[in-house]
Amino acid sequence: MRCWTPPIKFNTIHAKLLATYILLTTLGTSLMASYILWSFHAYFMRTRQADLENWTTALGESVADALEEKDIPRVKLLVQRYGAPQTVTLRVFDAQGNLIATSDPKLDRRVTNWYVVPGMQQAFQNTAAQGVAKGVLSNEDRLYIARPIERKHQLLGVLRMSMTLEQFQRQFMRVIWSVLGTLALTILLCALISSRFARSLSKPIEIMRNFAIRLGSGNFGDRLIIHQNNELDQLAVELNRMSERLASLDHERRVFLANVSHELRTPISNVQVTVDALKGGAYEEAQLRDRFFQTIENETKRLSRLIHDLLDLGRLEAGVTELEVQTIPLRGLINRAVNAVEPRMQAAGVTLQVNIAELQITGDPERLLQAILNLLDNAIKHSRPNSQVFISGHSAGKTAVIKIQDQGQGISESDLPRIFEQFYTTDPSRKGSGNGLGLAIAKRIIEAHRGSITATSIPHQGATFTISLPLQG
Ligand SMILES: Nc1ncnc2c1ncn2[C@@H]1O[C@H](COP(=O)(O)OP(=O)(O)OP(=O)(O)O)[C@@H](O)[C@H]1O
Ligand SMILES: [Mg+2]
Repeated sequence: MRCWTPPIKFNTIHAKLLATYILLTTLGTSLMASYILWSFHAYFMRTRQADLENWTTALGESVADALEEKDIPRVKLLVQRYGAPQTVTLRVFDAQGNLIATSDPKLDRRVTNWYVVPGMQQAFQNTAAQGVAKGVLSNEDRLYIARPIERKHQLLGVLRMSMTLEQFQRQFMRVIWSVLGTLALTILLCALISSRFARSLSKPIEIMRNFAIRLGSGNFGDRLIIHQNNELDQLAVELNRMSERLASLDHERRVFLANVSHELRTPISNVQVTVDALKGGAYEEAQLRDRFFQTIENETKRLSRLIHDLLDLGRLEAGVTELEVQTIPLRGLINRAVNAVEPRMQAAGVTLQVNIAELQITGDPERLLQAILNLLDNAIKHSRPNSQVFISGHSAGKTAVIKIQDQGQGISESDLPRIFEQFYTTDPSRKGSGNGLGLAIAKRIIEAHRGSITATSIPHQGATFTISLPLQG
């Protein structure tokens, strides 16, 4: 047997919003309705009570006059006159508690003890009493007032007037039902409007939830379209930005993996082939053997440099590289770099022109040295024999500007914007000796020092790399 499922899931935002709206509406309208009904009821009771008071005050005086003169017929006349209306009962008692006159003789004949009638005891003790009580020998609610009739501090009698509340209660019930009806209608209407409101809020949230789920399962690049001028729209914009970012990160990750596997595959297969050749007999021939061992050594060196660079880049990008920051005299730093590459410069037939101002920068000397060495490595690789490489360093405002300029083949306009990307080399054959990571690493190091690095080049006239770093202090 299929079990019943509720039309709305109660833990959704829509249901919660709807429940909140309906609850608030019901609470608000009910409170308002109860207050209206209560104040209407209280107002009616107060005015009726005030009427009773006024009537009995005036009547009391007339009855007192009559009682003073022991004019009972006149008391009866007064009672008959003022007690005429169906809704009102009027009684007058003498000071001993005997009923002198009543507007409802038929009923009163059946009353044996007047002291149990509400208000009577207080009235016979000279205190006026009023309130709501059941009618004498009846079940209807009546508003009553019992007041002593006094003259010269002598109790002459008691006057008790009551009026039925039945008619008022019937009308009041009708008012209550119509208010309840209106309330129900209002709540229904509000529920419909609230549902639309809740839907207008929950729908975009649902769409964004599904979008986030799709993002979570790797579907990048979708776009959210939410036409609402509020926070949800801003959230949608941010989610779209996040989706684009994730899509570009995912793309970068795939490219990176493709590049890494490509970079690793070449040297590994080279080593593989060489070892097989050695095992296949090349080992016997000394010259071949030495050359093959040299190849294996070169390839393993390249592999370890690649892995070392990758780890470095990975740490720099993740921002987990601890920088040992200290004050560095720029000239000293550049000299260390120059010393490191001098043998290779000479081997390549390239001369160095160094002109560094006396500047202090702050940073991790090893890391900054690595960045400068990566640039000098490129300058050497791309310089022509008998050309020069210029290294200059000067301050510009609060920045130290280091320029490394070579007279090599330069970099084409199309390559310039991409040379700082990982694995990007302008030599697609990769015959060159590089992995395309040097500039990417240099850039991350300089950025980790709150600096910047740029490249300019005139093809075939060399390239210039400019590093800007904040000066010390
Ligand atoms: N001074 C330069 N002159 C001409 N081209 C350059 C120069 N510096 C870099 N390039 C080009 O930019 C590309 C990226 O340089 P990068 O240093 O990142 O890689 P690489 O030198 O090829 O390899 P790696 O530095 O990882 O060994 C190089 O392949 C090279 O083609
Ligand atoms: Mg390089």
